[in-house]
Amino acid sequence: MAGEVSTDLERELGEMLEQERFEPPAEFRERALWSDPAVYDEAAADPEAWWLRQANELLDWEEAPSEGLDDSNPPFYRWFADGKINASANCLDRHVAAGIGDRVAYHWRGEEGEERDVTYAELLADTQRFANALKGLGVGKGDVVGIYLPMIPEVVVAMLACARIGAMHNVVFGGFSAEAVRERMEFSEAKALVTVDGARRKGKTAPIKQQVDEHLGVLGTLKTIVVVRHAGTDCPMQEGRDRFYDELLEAADPECLPEPMGAEDPLFILYTSGSTAKPKGILHTTGGYLTGVAATHRYVFDLKPESDVYWCAADVGWVTGHSYIVYGPLLNGATSVMWEGAPDYPSHGIWWELVDRYGVTILYTAPTAIRTFIKWGADIPAESDLSSLRLLGSVGEPINPKAWLWYHKVIGAERCPIVDTWWQTETGAIMITPLPGITATKPGSATTPFPGVAAEVVGEGDGEPVEQGQGLLILTRPWPSMLRTLYKEEERFVETYFSRFGKETYLVGDAARRDEDGYLWVIGRIDDVVNVSGHRLSTAEVESAIVAHEKVAEAAVIGQSDEQTGQAICAFVTLRGDTEHSEELVEGIRAVVAERIGKFARPKRTVWADELPKTRSGKIMRRLLRDIAEGRALGDVTTLRDPSVMEELEAKIGAYEDED
Ligand code: WTA
Repeated sequence: MAGEVSTDLERELGEMLEQERFEPPAEFRERALWSDPAVYDEAAADPEAWWLRQANELLDWEEAPSEGLDDSNPPFYRWFADGKINASANCLDRHVAAGIGDRVAYHWRGEEGEERDVTYAELLADTQRFANALKGLGVGKGDVVGIYLPMIPEVVVAMLACARIGAMHNVVFGGFSAEAVRERMEFSEAKALVTVDGARRKGKTAPIKQQVDEHLGVLGTLKTIVVVRHAGTDCPMQEGRDRFYDELLEAADPECLPEPMGAEDPLFILYTSGSTAKPKGILHTTGGYLTGVAATHRYVFDLKPESDVYWCAADVGWVTGHSYIVYGPLLNGATSVMWEGAPDYPSHGIWWELVDRYGVTILYTAPTAIRTFIKWGADIPAESDLSSLRLLGSVGEPINPKAWLWYHKVIGAERCPIVDTWWQTETGAIMITPLPGITATKPGSATTPFPGVAAEVVGEGDGEPVEQGQGLLILTRPWPSMLRTLYKEEERFVETYFSRFGKETYLVGDAARRDEDGYLWVIGRIDDVVNVSGHRLSTAEVESAIVAHEKVAEAAVIGQSDEQTGQAICAFVTLRGDTEHSEELVEGIRAVVAERIGKFARPKRTVWADELPKTRSGKIMRRLLRDIAEGRALGDVTTLRDPSVMEELEAKIGAYEDED
């Protein structure tokens, strides 16, 4: 009978699609923190003063800032520059001092059903001890500490302990390979790395510490590796370098006063993909970042910390995890769910069991997850009680209207507003989003900028504002949580974001459309960045991994539309000499990519190319490869050195597909 159900649902979603706008439900609007659109006008009237007010209202400053923006040296903007503040004190101490130390910060749930409720007071106790331990290891203000951990509460302790003593954390997503960790530790000259014995994934355990040892080699600056014992995996410990987390905690002094930090002192770096093979170290500072995430977390999710149970189902290793699993929720005193595992283990219904079990009221996830749930069928969430939910969020890539409607109907029972939030690692916090008690939403549109944020769509050629239609997305006014630079690459920072339209206009790198109501529809990247399941990857990064395979002469990588993952990696590969192509070689190439970057970056499709399409000057024309991969009519081929290359490739495309 399942077929009938889904046909009915299909029809109902089809009917809903006719509905253009979804007004906030009256019950939601009545209780919303913000329900008056005047907030947009207030912010627009004096954005700087408005943000300064947010900073003072939402945060607890050691020395309150007297000024908002310092724009004397664009694009090096500063916010709240004379303020002093500590991030960990704002996330923990002030809540404990206010008497809510017993509140659960995280309902942690392990893959095998283990449960741990971690309170604010417990987080504070561990954070102080670990901060002292780091100091004892010679880590101090301005040093970099790498963190390569799975989704366990210790990742939060490690981040906040760094913040407490003024060290910058550099978290590497657990899905990245140990080789990617090595590279990021080297680029950032990290002094210590916090990792884990083993990480569990779908019933298996990966020996993380061992992998780190195999790849790390000798890095001049890296003096210590701290190992959290989690999975019980055997791990070799190197005398003089490696220490167990629990032993350090035990031996450490329980009290560590938070270091008063200048608002513009760095809080963290987070590497993300850009147009070239080398990842960019996005640097965020303290006061502005905290203001941006506290305000957006509170008002976009309409957070009522006393009654809400909030779940951001991302990984802490991406910016979404930094801003909306760690800093935003903790600043606001929220109770969150932290789930160690995947959406399909131990069952396809695990997410909905967790929503039911913890009474989740706010769920924030990515379109790729929603599309996966659609594939598994609406009868799976129907087995759990989802009536606690009151608000749903989406992030990471454009959400297709069908997925939006399914989310709205099947998960939200048409009761929960959806906030489709557009932002980036660089922006630190949500930039374009509905406000759930104010904005009428349209499926697929992130709607309008958050108060105090200014975005425009401009023509590609002339940079003139586009009133209605497509163009480049730009942010026209500095905002508190903006990146301040690329770590150790200042020129690249200016060049990447502030050269095309000048030093006062931030180039986003996305194309977008503005509709007749001024709503923004983000289309996708304009550079060589691919978005696979909401994970940012650069085509150059994947290409350089592929050519590391001994049999590969040359490779060109593109992002191809994919129903499941948004985009998927498609690689055109030219082999060396007279190497015969084979299935084995496909697997070999995938293995090199997994080793160098991580499994999520493996090509889904490999096409053998005797030659790649190149211009007369030898530049690979990826645009044409995208055209044939998408089955589009080819664009201009007259600049090709040898146009017949395209005919051969077109004949081949589709011949060697392989599935994950
Ligand atoms: C894309 C993730 C459409 C966009 C927070 C952006 C989105 C890139 C949305 C940043 C959205 C993110 N609608 N596209 N709601 N959210 N994107 O740095 O292309 O991992 O530039 O930050 O994701 O990815 P990042």
